[in-house]
Amino acid sequence: MEKIVILTGAGISAESGLGTFRDEGGLWAQHRIEDVATPEGFARNPALVHGFYNARRVQAAKAQPNAAHQALARLQQGWPGEVVIVTQNVDSLHEAGGAEDVIHMHGTLAGALCAVCGHRWTSPPEMEVREPCPACQQPSARPDVVWFGEMPYFMEKIFDHLTEASLFASIGTSGQVYPAAGFVQEARAMGVRTVELNLEPSTGAPIFDEAYWGPATEVVPRWVDGLLARCHAQ
Ligand code: OAD
Repeated sequence: MEKIVILTGAGISAESGLGTFRDEGGLWAQHRIEDVATPEGFARNPALVHGFYNARRVQAAKAQPNAAHQALARLQQGWPGEVVIVTQNVDSLHEAGGAEDVIHMHGTLAGALCAVCGHRWTSPPEMEVREPCPACQQPSARPDVVWFGEMPYFMEKIFDHLTEASLFASIGTSGQVYPAAGFVQEARAMGVRTVELNLEPSTGAPIFDEAYWGPATEVVPRWVDGLLARCHAQ
């Protein structure tokens, strides 16, 4: 049966109260990327970087999944084929909404990573500078998130899924950060049908076969209901 691959971005969590990056007043209007989201920034000022991610972790822990997260979980449960959710988001709202096997290509706030030995463990709510790694004891804990200049996680697996997909959907992402922004071209080149769901046309909007504009909590449940109705009518 048909495989659907879905890419999500900050827009899907916006109505859960989590700020996006590039909308007016977004995170990148308040913080410099090179200070808080690069390995060099972390080396220069780890306290600033931990402070940024600690605040985001606290905020994300308070957020509830919205109708769009829940609709995608419903699609996973009701669709006769595989529905793969790939997210750029570091929150866990897809999982809280009932989704399974979510691929976090930019990592997750729930995780800690040792910058020395690569060991991974569950992050405490507040990570401190020089926090020791439980495996190698080096004072080198960092958030398990992907920073600019680092390779996103699970790329091979994601491309394998795209190769096998019949439909690729991009939801709530501005399409400005690669490699995620390039998935739509990859999908199209392989003959996969592509659809965008976003508040407004993204950078890559003209490339998509189909588009639905509006808040995620409205357009995503409607789109999911349409897909499920069509597949049950067959
Ligand atoms: P952006 O902030 O770049 O884009 C968010 C998109 O969501 C925009 O196109 C908005 O129009 C749309 N949007 C806002 N509110 C929405 C709503 N209620 N419903 C639907 N769409 C809405 O966020 P991302 O594209 O996720 O990476 O950013 C990609 C990456 O850039 C992030 O993962 C992060 C950031 O730098 C790293 O930190 C490595």
